[in-house]
Amino acid sequence: MLEISVELTKSPKQKPSESEPLGFGKYYTDHMFIMNYDEGEGWHNPRIVPYQNIALDPAAMCFHYAQEVFEGLKAYRTKSGEIQLFRPEKNMARLNLSNDRLCIPRIDEEFAVETIKKLVSVDKDWVPHGEGTSLYIRPFIFAVDPYVGVHPARHLLFVIILSPVGSYYPQGLNPVKIYVEDEYVRAVKGGMGYVKAGGNYAASLKSQAKAEELGYTQVLWLDGVERKYVEEVGTMNVFFVIDGEVVTPKLTGSVLGGITRLSCIELLREHGYKVTERCISIQEIYDAYESGKLNEAFGSGTAAVISPIGEFRWGDKVIKLTESEIGPVSQFLYDTLTGIQWGKIEDTRGWTQKI
Ligand code: COI
Repeated sequence: MLEISVELTKSPKQKPSESEPLGFGKYYTDHMFIMNYDEGEGWHNPRIVPYQNIALDPAAMCFHYAQEVFEGLKAYRTKSGEIQLFRPEKNMARLNLSNDRLCIPRIDEEFAVETIKKLVSVDKDWVPHGEGTSLYIRPFIFAVDPYVGVHPARHLLFVIILSPVGSYYPQGLNPVKIYVEDEYVRAVKGGMGYVKAGGNYAASLKSQAKAEELGYTQVLWLDGVERKYVEEVGTMNVFFVIDGEVVTPKLTGSVLGGITRLSCIELLREHGYKVTERCISIQEIYDAYESGKLNEAFGSGTAAVISPIGEFRWGDKVIKLTESEIGPVSQFLYDTLTGIQWGKIEDTRGWTQKI
């Protein structure tokens, strides 16, 4: 395995006060990880350095053609003061899935997990203590060749930064309102919707801005061909409870395979819930609501954890589920997942890794 050099900062930053809500993505720690890829040499020179700007040539390919992928995972401080990661090997496997789709050289997954552990341990004092807080870990890879022709990069950087966070939504665990987007689309089968590429999120901004203007928190995407089937929400996968059965869109090639989504499915099945992954039309959701069979809806994601959905707006139709109540399935998943992540519930599945 490559040796990671460490250069410690000489001017540590002031940490945010934990008596104020941390919010999401506002603060960054003292250090970052960086590693180069150069054709012929492969990935090399892994180093932990003080958090700093990155100087790039204005022709760097990432600025022009968005050859960039990223991941999101968290480090949690347990009750006994230990720090742990949640299924980091799954994030690193997904990073390679994204790399493959965007012609980015694969990384060594085991090395990447070890690197995350080393970086988090250097900045361990930044893992927040407050209830519901964690250290968000953002690995990303981007093309840096100074070349404005369209071609897979020969020179890239792999960077990891860390950010102490609270809840992603200002609403916390309170239900969010979602706008069903039937004009723009996020992805189509054969595109890159199933991987974590920055470009997918760039494509989402127009709708996100529209939703916010109308007073909604995020967008529910429909399939790109028929605008009929439900795919995912802005930064989350989506689940519905219809007549006691949990249903979630199946991964048909345009939906991100969330690690929280997978963990929810596994936990629910273990606890005797019927969970089905299939195509679900928005009309079916509306019909279930009209007939009183739509019991609950929620989103799942690393940043968002479990987020109950209180309302959907689909054209002129409104699906009003709840203003403030958290459904039993959402509550069960939130309690169990966060219980394992923060070490309040014993991890019997080997999902956590100590730093
Ligand atoms: C995550 O949940 O980690 C994500 O990557 C969503 C992000 C775009 C905020």
